[in-house]
Amino acid sequence: MEPGEPAGAAIRTRGLTKRWGGRLAVDRLDLVVPRGSVFGFLGPNGSGKTTTIRMLMGLVEPTSGTAELLGRPMPRAARRVLPAVGALIEGPALYGFLSGRDNLVRFDAADPAADPRTRAARVEAALDRVGLVAAAGKKARAYSLGMKQRLGLAAALLRPRELLVLDEPTNGLDPQGMREIRALVRELAGDGTTVFLSSHLLDEIEQVCTHVAVMARGRLLTQGTVTELAATAHGRLAVTTPDTADAVRVLKEHGVTDLVVADDRVTGELPVTKAPRDLADLNAALVGAGVRVRAFGAERASLEDAFVALTGEGFDVAG
Ligand SMILES: Nc1ncnc2c1ncn2[C@@H]1O[C@H](COP(=O)(O)OP(=O)(O)OP(=O)(O)O)[C@@H](O)[C@H]1O
Ligand SMILES: [Mg+2]
Repeated sequence: MEPGEPAGAAIRTRGLTKRWGGRLAVDRLDLVVPRGSVFGFLGPNGSGKTTTIRMLMGLVEPTSGTAELLGRPMPRAARRVLPAVGALIEGPALYGFLSGRDNLVRFDAADPAADPRTRAARVEAALDRVGLVAAAGKKARAYSLGMKQRLGLAAALLRPRELLVLDEPTNGLDPQGMREIRALVRELAGDGTTVFLSSHLLDEIEQVCTHVAVMARGRLLTQGTVTELAATAHGRLAVTTPDTADAVRVLKEHGVTDLVVADDRVTGELPVTKAPRDLADLNAALVGAGVRVRAFGAERASLEDAFVALTGEGFDVAG
């Protein structure tokens, strides 16, 4: 960021839309990715993540709407902005007959701002960061999917970036490789790089991201911090009380549904909008109505619970 420049969004879209033939792949997307965040772009297969990323990077023309990277309009400011943005999009374009190392040398040589005298050192540092040093001499056509993915990441890391845009960066990696990429993302974020990464894996986003946007069928369902999203789905409320009948009545009056009584325990489904302070109010209402509350609590919800609460569906491929 230049001095005096406001700490605005790293990515901002307004009404961003892409229609392929008759089909809306991305529908009026308003995305705000704060600088310094690790932002998870979550959605099932076919929900429009890659199409959005291609529009952000100026690789696909939007049908309508606008996109800004680092405060500048895309694709108009592409030449100014893109040197500060590293990207990995659905399988990097590699020369199969070249080694992994020589592919990186070519990527680096294609960057007019890269000093040829320090090229070899940059390439070795990038190989090291993604754990490809041992395989660097192997021809890229003999790379596994995970190795290609690492090489693509290395290309995105050849120079310091303000923003990294990574489309499914752990795709094709084994569990150990996924852990390494997550650690790398945390490390990059620690250096102040904003990381925008797409995924269809909820637990991955939960583990590494500060913020999340949820897509389904081309539309943005919600965006915010991971904590906020998890808070929109509380899971089930459980109240332990000897006064179960009164508890059921009071909870019903406060919008709790699907109430089940088992011995001295009443459980029920909280409305999706219930914020934590409403939970305190709910507890107070029970006590105020003379219900003797022995225990009161909501189970912690996962992002998956939040997704189901938002969509009313499971986390399935868009039809
Ligand atoms: N070049 C294209 N031409 C026509 N339709 C396309 C094209 N690219 C994507 N689509 C369609 O747009 C929709 C969104 O696809 P997109 O690749 O953006 O989804 P995604 O969220 O990245 O999915 P995945 O998790 O499988 O990578 C899908 O219905 C897809 O078939
Ligand atoms: Mg995709």
